[in-house]
Amino acid sequence: MKRFFIALAFAWGAMSTQAQPQPPHLIPAPAVYSAGKGFVQSSNGQIVKSSNCKIVKSKRALCRRLEGRTLADWQLKSAYWLELGKKGVKIVAADEEGVFYAQQTLKMMAALNSSLSCCTILDWPRFRYRGVMLDESRHFQGKDFVKKQLEMMALLKMNRFHFHLVDNPGWRVQIDAFPRLTQLTAWRPEAFFWDWEKNRTGGLFVEKGTPGAYGGYYTKQDIADIIAFADERHIEMIPEIEMPGHNYETRAAYPELACSLPGGGKDPWELCPGKESTFEFLEKVLLEVFDMFPSKYIHIGGDEARKNNWKLCPDCQARMKAEGLQSAEELQSYMIRRMERFAHEHGKRIIGWDEILQGGLAPDATVMSWHGIEAGLQAVRAGHDVIFTPTHYCYLDYHQDSTQFRPVGRHLPLEKVYSFNPLAEGISEAEAHHVLGLQGCLWTEHVQDAWHAEMMLYPRVFAIAETGWNPAEKKDWPDFERRASVLSEVARKWGYNVFKKAAE
Ligand code: ACM
Ligand code: ZN
Repeated sequence: MKRFFIALAFAWGAMSTQAQPQPPHLIPAPAVYSAGKGFVQSSNGQIVKSSNCKIVKSKRALCRRLEGRTLADWQLKSAYWLELGKKGVKIVAADEEGVFYAQQTLKMMAALNSSLSCCTILDWPRFRYRGVMLDESRHFQGKDFVKKQLEMMALLKMNRFHFHLVDNPGWRVQIDAFPRLTQLTAWRPEAFFWDWEKNRTGGLFVEKGTPGAYGGYYTKQDIADIIAFADERHIEMIPEIEMPGHNYETRAAYPELACSLPGGGKDPWELCPGKESTFEFLEKVLLEVFDMFPSKYIHIGGDEARKNNWKLCPDCQARMKAEGLQSAEELQSYMIRRMERFAHEHGKRIIGWDEILQGGLAPDATVMSWHGIEAGLQAVRAGHDVIFTPTHYCYLDYHQDSTQFRPVGRHLPLEKVYSFNPLAEGISEAEAHHVLGLQGCLWTEHVQDAWHAEMMLYPRVFAIAETGWNPAEKKDWPDFERRASVLSEVARKWGYNVFKKAAE
């Protein structure tokens, strides 16, 4: 509750009767907003303690305020009723989370408006997963950057941070059982990914401490700090440990994890699922990751394994014969299912990119649908949970316009991101509960520093946030565009590098 009193910054009683009540420029827009009579002046940035705030935490009281609406339990947890009146603020929520979201609404209102209509807001989320993914491997952002984005996510009522911690160009988290992952493969000669990729001639990492080396990693203490920070903001940190593909760096640190072929095989980034030692490695890594991250989820990657090595490797072939597996896809599925069993034994559930559908989906896996929405639909129909991250709406490495610094990929302007409806494509009401939500993904191949990373994130993360929270029928592009422009200006004042269109 403490945080509330530092966030609230209103001076009461400066009333006007002339101006018309205007809804605040909130993102996400609240589900129900009714203007009351009169105005309150916010004391712009001036922090004052308020004794004018009453908080009621009661499910029954909240349900009464919902005026007969029925929400799922997870929605009730985040829902709130907020009254901003002449005498002060009243918040009713069922849970600490709802109180927190009401506080974020007040905080954003105070930042965006110097004069606020007295009002009543009734608000709840549309989806339970409202996320951002950050690729730390190709470009390492570090703890302060992550905390800064968590602060903005909280303000936007987002609640999942997918931490892409490991990939071909760098391993970014301390694992005590395997020190070479951070002694060697967290460091490389070139800072910019494409320079490294171009110069890579096989195993191009350098020892920690090498003069000029680029890289870094999160220590266990760093992770604990970030998780505590996220926890205070009701954000769950979900770690990703990639397997079986995207493991160039793992193989550089521990070459014995590659297939039993000359040089580990032609495909340089796959682990060998034929060897028992590969599973021993992954299980030891995951045990340390489980200890660091309290999330019930572990993301196990699963994307873009080429599988050519497996067709030639004697260990993989022996595994396929022993397990009666007919194809490389089934061998991948064997690996993912086995890792899922291991995760379950430790009270965790797996998320994987949509390639985990190949060769048969692990029984309880959540699918992250990235190629498009088809894989997500297939998984939903098979009774699995899905998080939508389709490239053409949610990949924030794509350029926003041709004037953008290092423009890459497809054109993905704000309006296109905003137009995404995760339930649009023929998902029935009965299936809809399997759609957990959506996520904006920032891959960092082209990112050169924090300034650049933020420019890719904002304002498009605002659109992801509103899609995740707002009822579909409330979405309104011209109105959102106006609100996004106001919030962008405020965010710039707070030190965020929000992308500006050339004409803006
Ligand atoms: C992905 O973009 N390879 C998940
Ligand atoms: Zn193999």
